[in-house]
Amino acid sequence: MKLSYNVHGSIMTVTLLLAIYCCCDGADDPTLGFTEVPLNPSNMVILKPYDVPVDQRYSFINGTHRMWVYADDKPEAPGSNTQPRTEIRIVGLDYSSGVWQFEGHGFVPNGTSGATVAQIHGAAHGNTTLLLRVYAPGEMRYYSSLHVADGLYDRWFRLNMIHDVDGGKVTVFLDGEQKFQYHDQGPGDLFFKCGVYGAPANISYYMESRWRDIKIYRK
Ligand SMILES: *[C@@H]1O[C@H](CO)[C@@H](O)[C@H](O)[C@H]1NC(C)=O
Ligand SMILES: *[C@@H]1O[C@H](CO)[C@@H](O)[C@H](O)[C@H]1NC(C)=O
Ligand SMILES: *[C@@H]1O[C@H](CO)[C@@H](O)[C@H](O)[C@H]1NC(C)=O
Ligand SMILES: *[C@@H]1O[C@H](CO)[C@@H](O)[C@H](O)[C@H]1NC(C)=O
Repeated sequence: MKLSYNVHGSIMTVTLLLAIYCCCDGADDPTLGFTEVPLNPSNMVILKPYDVPVDQRYSFINGTHRMWVYADDKPEAPGSNTQPRTEIRIVGLDYSSGVWQFEGHGFVPNGTSGATVAQIHGAAHGNTTLLLRVYAPGEMRYYSSLHVADGLYDRWFRLNMIHDVDGGKVTVFLDGEQKFQYHDQGPGDLFFKCGVYGAPANISYYMESRWRDIKIYRK
């Protein structure tokens, strides 16, 4: 961190520079103080409509996982009443306490709407702790209602989701900036996912998201 008070010699200048630095320069890197947990391909399982081969809904090229699904696709298992999905489910790193973090660089093409692109699965109440959906015209929401951020279509963004299980809260960062914080749904068998998973209503026929540089951290 650069403090140029030797130039100006004023506490006010230092305070101002600190404020600017903390606001805009990534000083509040969400991964600071966390330890990266090793993640290898066996920690990623692809969930997709049960009746199609994985290569018709998923590709991994040049480090980018691309996942897509159609609104009339089948669920992940016969007999399931859930909406269609193609998702990476992080396995082997389920957690039930402590502070955990998902980081990934995501891309959602213009037109994908009503798709959960990242989630924390598991909770004491209900099935999920956090669903982040993208709706037209590029807005990210917590489930279908609360606003998280705008302007997410057709560009790479860095997403960090922090789950403080002991403190009972989830925090969402986009491009290093905190955008959202909310209470969780109580502890459970918790794990991270990303990809596309149709909401119950208001979904586009085609849904796609791409992810790269996925990392898991803990405290
Ligand atoms: C592969 O990804 C890198 C970024 O990690 C990019 O610079 C490069 O252009 C990509 N190559 C192809 C063939 O897409
Ligand atoms: C998305 O596509 C629509 C329809 O083609 C267009 O009007 C809109 O400007 C596009 N949005 C972005 C962010 O490019
Ligand atoms: C939780 O998941 C089960 C199995 O997929 C489903 O039957 C149930 O409706 C879900 N509960 C809620 C509250 O979404
Ligand atoms: C679907 O969209 C309509 C029109 O914008 C809205 O009134 C309704 O609440 C939405 N439903 C859900 C479940 O988000």
